[in-house]
Amino acid sequence: MTGIYGGGASPHYGGGASPLKFNILVVDDEAGNRQAMRQILKDFYKLSFATDGTEALNIAKKEKPDMILLDVLMPGIDGYDTCSRLKENPDTEEIPVIFITSLADVGDESRGFEAGGVDYITKPISPSVVLHRVSAHLEIFNQKRLCEETVKRRTKQLQESQESAIFMLGDAGHFNDSDTGSHIWRMASYSVEIARACAWPVEVVEIIALAAAMHDTGKIGVPGSILRKPAKLDPEEWKIMMTHTTIGHSILSKSNTPLFRMSADIAYYHHEKWDGTGYPKGLRGNEIPQSAAIVAVADVFDALTMVRPYKEAWPVDKALDEIKRCAGTHFDPHIVARFFDVEDEIRRLKEFWDEREKDGS
Ligand SMILES: [Fe+2]
Ligand SMILES: [Fe+2]
Repeated sequence: MTGIYGGGASPHYGGGASPLKFNILVVDDEAGNRQAMRQILKDFYKLSFATDGTEALNIAKKEKPDMILLDVLMPGIDGYDTCSRLKENPDTEEIPVIFITSLADVGDESRGFEAGGVDYITKPISPSVVLHRVSAHLEIFNQKRLCEETVKRRTKQLQESQESAIFMLGDAGHFNDSDTGSHIWRMASYSVEIARACAWPVEVVEIIALAAAMHDTGKIGVPGSILRKPAKLDPEEWKIMMTHTTIGHSILSKSNTPLFRMSADIAYYHHEKWDGTGYPKGLRGNEIPQSAAIVAVADVFDALTMVRPYKEAWPVDKALDEIKRCAGTHFDPHIVARFFDVEDEIRRLKEFWDEREKDGS
């Protein structure tokens, strides 16, 4: 219907949206009321109609309209119940609902807001009130949606940058090393399996997936001649090699986020041993953070099963025996038990990484 605004101006949404961009579901049991709404809105919006609450719920779920204009008094489930059910369903909870009703007292209005409605229009309806309210709420809803999309997009970008930075830090640690870059990702994937087996919450497992990859970041401060020496290190060289734990910790502890707090712990303590004979602190037993105790097992298992300049790759069975043998001396026996709980998955991961390396990817 043109002429409501005098001159047929269409409602606008601030963002210069084109007419008929938005879809509105009109719910009313009386044909006359539906017809009146059609006349008011048809030139500006795509419309669909429902004659009762149940039909409205079905259409809302299927068509995801941008707004619902909802009569209150209807046979079957009334408008308030319909609205509450829309708000309970994740597929429809975001859709703004405006109640259209002849009940005008304050109590009914607050019931509508409690049910999740954003506004009320009282009958008899005025075309200009309907158009202005619909337009205003669509604009608010659209702004909110744009805002949420922007936040999602930026969060994703941030996560990607964070993962790239971690990848680069992990790689930097191995830049002068003799092992392949994929060591850090293989051992990180083993760490994830063990952490899962230890019943860590999903969000903390996600953290160790990245934190473990930075365990040797401190090797950036160890000379390449020591890192790449194709033979056992002498005691002086070992002393220098051991500093990669403290160097890694001092680099990674500059950030106080949960991810970097864990990665700093892992860098510091991944060479500690259960019996207290490890380095740099000689911690024993449960003094060693569990994250570092998990990485210790994953790191050694991967180091044993990969080729180094001074040794062949151990067969998986032999490496598993070695891990078992060192439970209670080098490794936390509880972590070793969990490692063997997921032995099949560890073997699968090992095969997966072997295939990838064969492909050169
Ligand atoms: Fe290390
Ligand atoms: Fe390592």
